[in-house]
Amino acid sequence: MAVFSGKDTSAFRPRTRVVLAGRDPAAQHGFVNMPPFRGSTVLYPTTDDLLHRRGRFSYGTRGTPTTEALEGAWSDLCAAAGTVLLPSGLAACVIALMCTLKAGDHLLITDSVYRPTRNFCDNVLKRFGVETTYYDPLIGAGITALMKPNTKVVFAEAPGSQTFEMQDIPALSAAAKARGAALLMDNTWATPFFFPPHERGVDIAIEAGTKYLGGHSDLLLGLVSANEEYWPRLRQAFDAMALCAGPEDVFLALRGLRTMRLRLGEQEGAALDVARWLETRPQVRKVLHPALPSFEGHAIWKRDFLGASGLFSVVLNPAPQKAVAALLDGLRLFGMGYSWGGFESLITPFDCKDYRTATKFEPGGPCLRLQIGLEDVADLKADLEAGFARLEAASAA
Ligand SMILES: Cc1ncc(COP(=O)(O)O)c(C=O)c1O
Repeated sequence: MAVFSGKDTSAFRPRTRVVLAGRDPAAQHGFVNMPPFRGSTVLYPTTDDLLHRRGRFSYGTRGTPTTEALEGAWSDLCAAAGTVLLPSGLAACVIALMCTLKAGDHLLITDSVYRPTRNFCDNVLKRFGVETTYYDPLIGAGITALMKPNTKVVFAEAPGSQTFEMQDIPALSAAAKARGAALLMDNTWATPFFFPPHERGVDIAIEAGTKYLGGHSDLLLGLVSANEEYWPRLRQAFDAMALCAGPEDVFLALRGLRTMRLRLGEQEGAALDVARWLETRPQVRKVLHPALPSFEGHAIWKRDFLGASGLFSVVLNPAPQKAVAALLDGLRLFGMGYSWGGFESLITPFDCKDYRTATKFEPGGPCLRLQIGLEDVADLKADLEAGFARLEAASAA
């Protein structure tokens, strides 16, 4: 339940609740925002209270008024039973897997998953006796054929990292439930604004708050929400591991939450504009954006999602590496670097050939991932247009 000044806000619409959630100005001397509470020790008034750990808070790793404010707001936004906050998006993926798997279990994970999540499965989970099988992200209800008696988790990410394959989440959820397995989903791209995970059948949803919740490329945070069934084991794992987020990052994320929907809407529109324009460029072979009707997973996006964020990819027509480098190296507005979801545009080349195992990565040309920020779209297009001119010149040289 989201609260403002101690009162239930469920009568309001989501955009209003996000503005109110987790704030109590009267308790903060009238100041609008919840401050970043820092601390390890929490003092108890009496021995009896200490021995029985009576009180709203017990120790810094287990939560503060600041973490509680963001957890409550996020649970409300996701329609979840509870949320925990981790120091990074990857740590969020890790705890979601750790709280649902044990030695001897089998995990089904999409081939299009964020690569460091894959690394965790192939190295750490393997050492702990968990077997991982990668599946084609387009498998849908066909996942049943890959399930074993010991399959405990199906892990999805929609759209997929780098290549944006859409996944049929309701079909995966039905298949997982029929076998008593949990459906976990990395929902970072859509965020709960554009894909309400638990309403669509996800048991545990992961958000790298580093991206759109932060929105300014200056914090690291992971959020994991769970439905009623899986919340107790998620909270238990969180308390056992003390993988707690930094107070300053949680404070900044609460601030980011107030404008997140606004930024997402802007970035959605700008990214679609750039994506449609890119479809008309002769140097572009294909645009990988779920909201484009030309994209393979478009029907699923249209059926299940409420919007699209500002990250997508393009496949260029075949060009030498030096020509792609000429395109990228001269860009003035698009920065080159990892992560996304901030106010500034980014571009990165990628190649999934060496690590995908359940599917064949044959894009037919060099691939670039674009994160569209809050700059003027006309300036972004001009920057890319100049890049295409450099690509052509370097290809001809
Ligand atoms: C889909 C996805 N999930 C999780 C993460 C991890 O987030 P963080 O960088 O906060 O560890 C990323 C980071 O790029 C990502 O793209």
